[in-house]
Amino acid sequence: MTIALDWHLSRALLEWQAELGVTDAILAEPVDRFAAFKALKDQRARPDAASQPAPGAVRRVATPADLPPGAGRGAGPGAGPDLGRDSGPDPVAEAARAAQLAAGLDDLAQALADFAHCPLKLGARSCVFADGDPRARVMIVGEGPGADEDRQGLPFVGRAGQLLDRMFAAIGLSRRSPDAESALYITNTVPWRPPGNREPTPEELAMLKPFLMRHIELARPDVLVAMGNVACDALLGRRGILKLRGTWAESQGLPVLPMMHPAYLLRNPEAKREAWADLLSLKARLKAGG
Ligand code: URA
Repeated sequence: MTIALDWHLSRALLEWQAELGVTDAILAEPVDRFAAFKALKDQRARPDAASQPAPGAVRRVATPADLPPGAGRGAGPGAGPDLGRDSGPDPVAEAARAAQLAAGLDDLAQALADFAHCPLKLGARSCVFADGDPRARVMIVGEGPGADEDRQGLPFVGRAGQLLDRMFAAIGLSRRSPDAESALYITNTVPWRPPGNREPTPEELAMLKPFLMRHIELARPDVLVAMGNVACDALLGRRGILKLRGTWAESQGLPVLPMMHPAYLLRNPEAKREAWADLLSLKARLKAGG
């Protein structure tokens, strides 16, 4: 069947893809996903060939069928899992178990990369774990990877990340500092890029929170910085960053400073004055011992 693609239909198809989170050209050559999917189906229909790569298969892209039972399916484009609809293991309990088993940060990064219950994993190229020095006194928790972070496998490397680096450099802190005293350690609430840069859903946040909590436990910083609403939600169970910012709170027995996300500051440069006050508050806290 041949479909004539006029301007309107082409545009509608592009918009539909963007809504699903297909916003980047990743490969130089187009990939025929229908052929790859058919090859995969044929392969599954022949159990003896199950361990053989599909003929002509491209790098295998996970599909919702790969999610374990309990991770939920069919909740709409880019949406998180419908926890509890299917029977099967509870993803939050599975995450808690996997996170607790991690004896160090390398183990935790591996456990997170192996965690198969979160649908965000299906649409992401990288599992973005952390950057900087885990011995740092300050650990920053952001929201989640964007397109640049997904491409490079590191948190906060896009425009917002560049602003974040400049902000912390202004108080003498850097993720590249060789000295733990002036270093930064940076992670996010979720390690996989949510499609179309949407916020992680409450279900996604809940199932990845045990990893974040263990991450903090293993890094043991003096101070946490919660960048924006989603990080405040994950660490403090609260939103409303414009009210929360600058007021010290506590999570896991550690002081937490809520700050406005650098992406917000890029859109609202007039708010940089308050961000500067928050940075000075952080500097004073570190000077006083954390
Ligand atoms: N925004 C975030 O919250 N985290 C990143 O890693 C990048 C942008």
